[in-house]
Amino acid sequence: MIKIVFATNNAHKLSEVRAVLGNGYELVTLKDVGITEDIPETGATLDENASLKARYVYERTGLDCFADDTGLEVEALDGAPGVHSARYATDSHDFKANNRKLLSELSGTDNRRARFRTVISLIRDGIEQQVEGTVEGRIATEESGCEGFGYDPLFIPDGYDVTFAEMSADEKNAISHRGRAVAKLVEILQK
Ligand code: IMP
Repeated sequence: MIKIVFATNNAHKLSEVRAVLGNGYELVTLKDVGITEDIPETGATLDENASLKARYVYERTGLDCFADDTGLEVEALDGAPGVHSARYATDSHDFKANNRKLLSELSGTDNRRARFRTVISLIRDGIEQQVEGTVEGRIATEESGCEGFGYDPLFIPDGYDVTFAEMSADEKNAISHRGRAVAKLVEILQK
């Protein structure tokens, strides 16, 4: 069993990543390794933030670890909220407020194209590598569904008529930004 730290305390992310990684890995969280403070996410890009988080954990634990950073990039908003997705409306990771703000910014806008992008930084034996996963779609005009988290009730992936929040965890994982990034992570880990 390969022990690896996933730099998160987000239970949704954890169960999504666990499902894709499969049984060969003992996935431990920040709390499990005694990191209880918020890791500063001061980077200007998803790549920088993923790297900052992974390095923070590696420097304190010396354990193999990975961190993800995700952004929702909306075409009509020039890529916003992007790296600011967590604190789009307020400073307090308020999903409901973020979704309200997104709907209000897009009100009257026909172009609702958007993509989720996840960057994962992996540090293994002290060496860092990054992988990325994306999913293209559009922003609905109202929230639907109660699965998942964050912007899921507003995001309709291409080829579907339902939001991520109306899909099962397995359905979302099979096509999502994070699912795709983790699949690439698994390829690296198995090398
Ligand atoms: P983080 O910095 O990677 O935690 O992600 C930033 C923000 O993007 C989160 O606070 C969520 O609002 C949103 N987000 C990340 N992943 C997802 C997802 O899979 N679905 C919906 N929203 C997400």
